[in-house]
Amino acid sequence: MTDLWWKSAVVYQIYPRSFADADGDGMGDLRGVIDHLDHLAGLGVDVIWLSPVYPSPQDDNGYDISDYQNIDPLFGDLAVFDDLLKGAHARGLKVVMDLVVNHSSDEHPWFIESRSSATSAKRDWYWWRPARTGMAPGTPGAEPTNWGSAFGGSAWEFDEATGEYYLHLFSRKQPDLNWENPAVREAVYSMMRWWLDRGVDGFRMDVINMISKAVRPDGSLPDGRMPTGAAFADGSASYINGPRIHEFLHEMYDRVFAGREALLTVGEMPGVTVDEAKLFTDPARHEVDMVFQFDHVWADRGSDPWRLIPLRLSNLKAILGRWQAGLADVGWNSLYWNNHDQPRAVSRYGDDSPAHRVASAKMLGTVLHLHRGTPYVYQGEELGMTNFPFRSIADFRDIEALGQYRQAIEHEGRSPEEVLTVLRARGRDNARTPMQWDASPQAGFTTGTPWLAVNPNYTEINAAAQYDDPDSVYHYYRQLIALRHAEPAVVDGDFTMLLPDDDRLYAFTRRLGPTELLVIGNFTGSTVQAPIPDAVSWTGAELVLSNLPAPATELSLAPWQAVIYRRVIE
Ligand code: NOJ
Repeated sequence: MTDLWWKSAVVYQIYPRSFADADGDGMGDLRGVIDHLDHLAGLGVDVIWLSPVYPSPQDDNGYDISDYQNIDPLFGDLAVFDDLLKGAHARGLKVVMDLVVNHSSDEHPWFIESRSSATSAKRDWYWWRPARTGMAPGTPGAEPTNWGSAFGGSAWEFDEATGEYYLHLFSRKQPDLNWENPAVREAVYSMMRWWLDRGVDGFRMDVINMISKAVRPDGSLPDGRMPTGAAFADGSASYINGPRIHEFLHEMYDRVFAGREALLTVGEMPGVTVDEAKLFTDPARHEVDMVFQFDHVWADRGSDPWRLIPLRLSNLKAILGRWQAGLADVGWNSLYWNNHDQPRAVSRYGDDSPAHRVASAKMLGTVLHLHRGTPYVYQGEELGMTNFPFRSIADFRDIEALGQYRQAIEHEGRSPEEVLTVLRARGRDNARTPMQWDASPQAGFTTGTPWLAVNPNYTEINAAAQYDDPDSVYHYYRQLIALRHAEPAVVDGDFTMLLPDDDRLYAFTRRLGPTELLVIGNFTGSTVQAPIPDAVSWTGAELVLSNLPAPATELSLAPWQAVIYRRVIE
């Protein structure tokens, strides 16, 4: 693909079960998405990324797929999907599907056949392994490796019928596909071509840097490192950026994407390094267009998973600055604060109190969208939606929160309150509460009972109220997106971080030819005078956008203020 159209694009992520419910069953659906396409067109985004809508037992909200070539009846059917595609394309919006092929559901016919006997033709489509040598199959500690799964418990599930274990890096209902087997790869590629032929415009690839496992020549997998106090080991060294990952992605490109135009591919890659990302996203290598890295959303995590570490702005800047510099010449960044796995950014890195919510949501948007890379907006972010006031574990629905809670309390000696404190701040259900459309009951999301409670602040924070308010977060995001489309320096300008050690201000410049942009975001609730080197040279520069009235004195930023200045250097 030589056409790098996505450099100037903004992507909007829809988590369909929480977006809009058209049939009143409490669950969002594709008709609901169709009904709200004008919300997206009005915002001015270019691409929709649709979280999974395939048939699924919904163990992990659709990231456990039992049929890759259909639509779950919860969401509609293929005819409605085609309508959505038509409606989106008619508005100039592309549609990118979620591709979940590190694992399938255990209810996928491939796995059912694989599980049916040790000699089944599809046995080798998944990771079946015998018990640890010398141990009785099915007894504690006999698992083939000591790896834990992401959602708590062992990463191996014992199957009584055949006496072997299968690998699941996520839930036991998400068995890992064996990418070593060429037939698995071909089945995946053929399914992907089928969606592209139907008209979809690309894929967001779920945990795609986990598909290659470091399997030894004798077929065994190595044990992982055991963190102190943990019930299971971290096996990630054996499956993050594994030995054949570049080969597999390059092969996928050749079999699926080569010769097709105007697509977008983005690989979700926990633990990816800048150097690896450069390889993944170098257009000449034909792998993926961009990756989602995690360093900046792990900036408030320490080695103890059940302790909250307050954000140090200088640390966040060091991380994102490293990614900007690393992919400056080769490759491309994706930019995000939010998605369906992260808490709401305004509650996490901003200030969601009534005094500062709107300003800090806009400030975060400004800083993110003015970086070099493709920005992603997660549903509700454009409204400044906040974390949910969870009271107890009973309020959570997410398999990750429930699984980790159980493991921490039952096996790792943690107290319910210490675990809940972290889940309230970071739990994925914060992002999954229903989209707040208006001030009517259930925020206009459903006429029924929503699958997850609506945030009680919907009467104040909702789309309808923001359409009519020119100072709303929605209209500010619209301006940020329009700026990217209008100002080439936002897309292609060089990035230079300023004030790297300052823990109050996030400041940088973007430079393209004679045009230079200065971006500053105040990450505090106090007024701060920006000590920009050569500040006087910005005197008289054009203030392109700010979330608050123009600074009274030069570069003096009000609480949570963001400013974008532009000058043209003769
Ligand atoms: C990453 C997805 O974003 C997350 O929601 C899911 O639970 C895991 N991958 C497993 O598919």
